Amino acid sequence: MQPTNPNPAVEAIIDGSRFVRACLRRPVDRTPVWFLRQAGRYMQEYRDVRKHHTLVEICKQPEIAAEVTITAAEKLGVDAAIIFADLLLPLEPMGLDFEFQAGEGPVVHHPVRTAEDVRALRTDRAADLAYVARAIEKVAGHFQNRLGIIGFCGAPYTLASYMIEGGGSKNYIHTKKMMYGDTDAWRLLLDKIVTVLEEYCRMQVQAGADVIQIFDSWVGSLGLADYREYAFEASRRLVRAVQQMGVPVIYFGVETAGLLSEMALTGADVIGLDWRQPLDEGWRAVGHAHAVQGNLDPITLFAPLEVLERRVHEILRAANGRPGHIFNLGHGIVPGTPVENVQAVVRMVREYGLEKANG
Ligand code: CP3
Repeated sequence: MQPTNPNPAVEAIIDGSRFVRACLRRPVDRTPVWFLRQAGRYMQEYRDVRKHHTLVEICKQPEIAAEVTITAAEKLGVDAAIIFADLLLPLEPMGLDFEFQAGEGPVVHHPVRTAEDVRALRTDRAADLAYVARAIEKVAGHFQNRLGIIGFCGAPYTLASYMIEGGGSKNYIHTKKMMYGDTDAWRLLLDKIVTVLEEYCRMQVQAGADVIQIFDSWVGSLGLADYREYAFEASRRLVRAVQQMGVPVIYFGVETAGLLSEMALTGADVIGLDWRQPLDEGWRAVGHAHAVQGNLDPITLFAPLEVLERRVHEILRAANGRPGHIFNLGHGIVPGTPVENVQAVVRMVREYGLEKANG
């Protein structure tokens, strides 16, 4: 028999819930750390797998998706593993084919442009995404309680923008044309997306995800008034629905300095911060009733170690030992990032510890 620790709080931290505890703003022994896009092209092991499989093939084969997830988390020594999948996977069961074109990112073959296109979208096939749940089961089986396991999905606004634009976008003209010009179709679209995502997240939670992160990556394209009027409610519904499943929610966006207080009103447990604003300012905007995640500029990972360490320490100092900080980047790791610098950040966060933050 394993000796049991008389202090249940300490035992809970040892068994890998440091990350989940921080999401809930409970005290932890040190700041948990993980990275957006921690499994990706910057890592040789991932590039080796990609020689034999496309991105979508990896996502759809639970054995491979789990291996990629586990390899990245173990190589970095992080506190949480995010399941290897992609934001766009739910488009397929909704009836939209897409592919990833080298150098161009995702391309949706027949983008949604009219009310009729929206009506044609299906919401009854979310179960087709069960391969993601199977991969989560494998990751959860591997790590047991040693690491937090993160499931994820796109936020309604960000997914709608991919469906309408047909890919990445600079000005979101088609998206905003539908939003302003055919608001009924827009609302129906978000409704349908939320229906599918709820079922998708439920499968992920049932499979063992400890936390769900909702990526509203492109919400920064909206001004505050438009966010309130056209995007907030669908995000709020999704956040609440996932919380009802019994897990905390991280709600993340980029270029969100002007939106943070409104994003917090979704009720998400954790708000992701980008790097354009100091962490303490962002946290004030979010409100201290929420945890925050962030917010190192991912390109700092190309800087000399002294500069990197200065920035890492600034972030930890700004968090000031307050329960509810999860160290991360402000956006995903980019190709070409030196892996050893990512590992160095994990060391820096571990070594900094809470004591130093407190004084
Ligand atoms: O460790 C991880 O975070 C990996 C899992 C993951 C992927 N995509 C795999 C992936 C996650 C969490 C995502 C989410 C995702 N996908 C987002 C939200 C996160 C963010 O960055 O804001 C978005 C916007 C997408 C859509 C997407 N997928 C784009 C725009 C691209 C092309 C970008 C590029 O760099 O080419 C992808 C492709 C993609 N998804 C890669 C990975 C590792 C690139 C590598 C490859 O082609 O193998």
